[in-house]
Amino acid sequence: MNNRKVAIIGCGYVGAATAFSIMQRGLFSEMVLLDVDRKKAEGEAMDIMHGMPFAMPIHIHAGDYDDIADSAIIIVTAGCNQKPEESRLDLVHKNIEIYRQIMGEIAARKVEGILLVVSNPVDILTYAAWKFSGLPRHRVMGSGTVLDTARLKCMLGNELGVDARSVHAFIIGEHGDSELAVFSSANVSGIDLKDFYDMCQPDEYHEDTERIYDQVKDSAYKIIESKKATYFGVAMAVRRICECIMRNEHSILTVSGVVEGQYGASDMALSLPAIVGSQGLEQIIQIELDEKEEEQLQESIRVLGNVLDECM
Ligand code: LAC
Repeated sequence: MNNRKVAIIGCGYVGAATAFSIMQRGLFSEMVLLDVDRKKAEGEAMDIMHGMPFAMPIHIHAGDYDDIADSAIIIVTAGCNQKPEESRLDLVHKNIEIYRQIMGEIAARKVEGILLVVSNPVDILTYAAWKFSGLPRHRVMGSGTVLDTARLKCMLGNELGVDARSVHAFIIGEHGDSELAVFSSANVSGIDLKDFYDMCQPDEYHEDTERIYDQVKDSAYKIIESKKATYFGVAMAVRRICECIMRNEHSILTVSGVVEGQYGASDMALSLPAIVGSQGLEQIIQIELDEKEEEQLQESIRVLGNVLDECM
């Protein structure tokens, strides 16, 4: 395996932004771009490659499935994206068929790296990618709610006047309308979030957390309404996951992974805190939830289970 090679399947808004974001970090020595429109892949490769003297050495080129089998990470962004008012789950039928074809190509080759699913609905497609590709569970993950968790941290940080990186909180469940915020264990550098509010902004906790949770859930719809698609935020989330894998960080990220009975869920992928390193998704962490959060997560599990029953 060429452990400094990354492949990106799909050179639309998200794929191109992901390629651009990743190449600035020096994680890889080679990047292969695939798209059904070969000229698009060639154009994106050329455009990004020309900026390479401002970044770090990397060989970026268009390719096909035979060029990606030895990649350390294969990122899949291919598929239709949300139109205004469309939910992520509305994309499932079209994108499942696209994934069936892509994963067939991957299953036909000895792929040794990690599969990183980004297309939506990402939890459903992560499970489908695992099923269709035949890769081991720990080598298939999705971008999950890594971006949603970042949105939560960003909004709480802005509200509290602290660095978003000092805010620790999770969005889990479906990367979509049924996702939930785990406020019960949220903290600011170890200080319980509610206590931090009591110290800095007494009486604002409940109103702020309710509002911010709604804003996180609605972020993609708002961005799509104003600029037709979201891509920079998710590209940075994907870059963060790649950093975690390539640097063998063992950091905890809310990637989407195939569950093994966590919270009573099975036969699905769910976005939950997980330890991520060079082996992929090393361990899903079953964090403690309060009663309301447990109910919300069970609703997410129900929603995803119903969609899987219908489309797999
Ligand atoms: C979003 C897309 C990645 O949440 O689903 O922006």
